[in-house]
Amino acid sequence: MSVRLIDKYAAEFVEPGKFAAMRSRLAAAHACLRAHPGGNDYKGWYDLPQTFDKAELEAIEQAAAKIRSECDVLLVIGIGGSYLGARAAIEFLRSQYYNQLKKDTPDIYFVGNSFSGEDLDEVLRICEGKEIAVNVISKSGTTTESAIVFRFVRHMMLRRYTNSELKERVFVTTDRRKGALKEFADREGYPTFVIPDDIGGRFSVLTAVGLLPIAVCGADIRALLGGALAMKKRLADQGMDNEAYRYAVLRNLFYEQGRYVEILASYEPSFRMMTEWWKQLFGESEGKDGKGIFPASVILSTDLHSLGQYIQDGRRMLFETIVKQKNVRKDMYVPSTAVDIDGLGFLAGQKLADVNDEAFLGTLLAHTAGGVPNLVIEYDHRDEHDLGELIYFFFVSCAISGYILGVNPFDQPGVEAYKKNMYALIGKPGYELLRKELTDKINTL
Ligand code: PA5
Repeated sequence: MSVRLIDKYAAEFVEPGKFAAMRSRLAAAHACLRAHPGGNDYKGWYDLPQTFDKAELEAIEQAAAKIRSECDVLLVIGIGGSYLGARAAIEFLRSQYYNQLKKDTPDIYFVGNSFSGEDLDEVLRICEGKEIAVNVISKSGTTTESAIVFRFVRHMMLRRYTNSELKERVFVTTDRRKGALKEFADREGYPTFVIPDDIGGRFSVLTAVGLLPIAVCGADIRALLGGALAMKKRLADQGMDNEAYRYAVLRNLFYEQGRYVEILASYEPSFRMMTEWWKQLFGESEGKDGKGIFPASVILSTDLHSLGQYIQDGRRMLFETIVKQKNVRKDMYVPSTAVDIDGLGFLAGQKLADVNDEAFLGTLLAHTAGGVPNLVIEYDHRDEHDLGELIYFFFVSCAISGYILGVNPFDQPGVEAYKKNMYALIGKPGYELLRKELTDKINTL
């Protein structure tokens, strides 16, 4: 067992009887998760660790090996669920300084996740004189941010490589059969990888969406899937002994107490992008129909010097979930100094990890004393297996939590609103009426 939920620090915030009263709602949520009414119900991630297509896995590993041996830089183009998981995994498994560290694997840059020309220009300049490969990832194939950036990147590559060389350098991850990107890739002869029909973007990190870039950084993607499978087996229980279910129940209990914001906290900066991935997973799954816990995040102790005051003492609408790493990869010992100027000489020879652990405990006790329930999710090692466990734990808890809340955790109707307005304002054909409506509105403001 590598990943576990520790809920004892939150016990004082759970009113007697309320936990047990959740049993029937949990049973209903479990039934929803396990129901397969047929057709595309977006629960393909549930069995994926067992059902992963072996040929696809081998093809991903071969493509990653080719990119590793022939390229200096991999550009990953994608946004939302087609971006966050891969980046989060690479920073967790390798480092937030992955590109700067000395290594024998390519640098990996993520683009197509904004409209910022300045950002894109900087990355394209970094690519000058380097051997480049591209992984463009889009399930729909028409997402504006990634589609525009793919145009820029292709132009840059066509100035340096022939069309036929591009077939060895452009890797497309998209729908199995349909969509603009699939058609384009087939026409150009680019190798393609599949985003299964029944897996939505935010649940796709264990598909080719995440696995190809993650494999390029040299990580063991089979161990990642193995961790997910181990967690799947551990989460077989249908009741409160299932730790992901218990996390989902506790989140909903806190929500019903008016704690509308959950802060995911980590004491490891390498976890920062994981918190971004988690925010998308829970925010897009639960924030709908006027409901939902707002997912926020902090890296500690860093943010104790910015948001710590609010968490300790501000409006009591919060609870925290701390993702805690048990074992560090490298022990660092506090050096002694000839003169004890700062009064910290007593720490000389102590492990920094121990100081970090005491900061975690001290903060946890202060925040709970300040009225903020604290849940802890602990993992043993910063490795592929534990990451697979963590990812799968969050998938299950997110789905169950959404069902308990009374929403469909697998749709995202709200993200269309900004897109329509943006299409209208940038002049997309078919949006002329809306464009007029919006510009009239802007002119009256
Ligand atoms: O989770 C989701 O469904 C979204 O975040 C999508 O992943 C995101 O909008 C990108 O979509 P696509 O993969 O179609 O380009």
